[in-house]
Amino acid sequence: MKRIIAPSLLSADFAFLYREIKMLNESEADWYHIDIMDSSFVSNISFGSSFVKCIKKYANKPMDVHLMIMQPERYIEQFKACGADHLHIHYEACVHLNRTIFSIKEYGMKVGVAVNPHTPVYLLQDLIQDIDFVLLMSVNPGFSGQKFIKKTYQKLEDTKDLILKKHSSALIEVDGGVNLENASLLFKNGADILVAGTTIFSNANPQKMIHRMKLGKTT
Ligand code: DX5
Ligand code: ZN
Repeated sequence: MKRIIAPSLLSADFAFLYREIKMLNESEADWYHIDIMDSSFVSNISFGSSFVKCIKKYANKPMDVHLMIMQPERYIEQFKACGADHLHIHYEACVHLNRTIFSIKEYGMKVGVAVNPHTPVYLLQDLIQDIDFVLLMSVNPGFSGQKFIKKTYQKLEDTKDLILKKHSSALIEVDGGVNLENASLLFKNGADILVAGTTIFSNANPQKMIHRMKLGKTT
């Protein structure tokens, strides 16, 4: 089991973005998690590919881009050009998911399929062997700072079972409401990657927080 920490830039201080990137570069964080929102799939608007491009210039870690947009197939080329290393698309936002998954791979990126809290993971049974990540949403997507949905523990279990049954090598990523209290349990229960925004960026010492999350500390 990996213990990958992917801080979500949505909670960063945009006025001091370079400082935040430098802080993450020098931390034990593994990836940059970047949330793209279109005000259609989710009600919020965040930032677009030019934001990813700016971060890529200074970041020394993989860019984990989470597309919360309808018909994400329209933007694959654009995000590749801006430096995305991983592209997550939502099961609920994509009609021709098989084609989109393979298109992302053809562009040389790793691909994740994200599922909203209401979407059962058995729906991934015919694609689980084709993807690199399952992104389990542990809040309803759109905003940072929301409360973790406990049903996620069951979904984690279901995802692990599916991965095992289908001999898939997909890693499990959990996104939303992750804090020091649930992080160690999530890792223990099979999560490979944890995304955290508020918990990391609202802390007076984000680097220390990342360190504690990685170690599975609970306080
Ligand atoms: C929610 C986003 C998350 C969010 C996490 O729609 O996908 O990545 O930034 O923020 P926290 O950790 O504050 O829930
Ligand atoms: Zn996200």
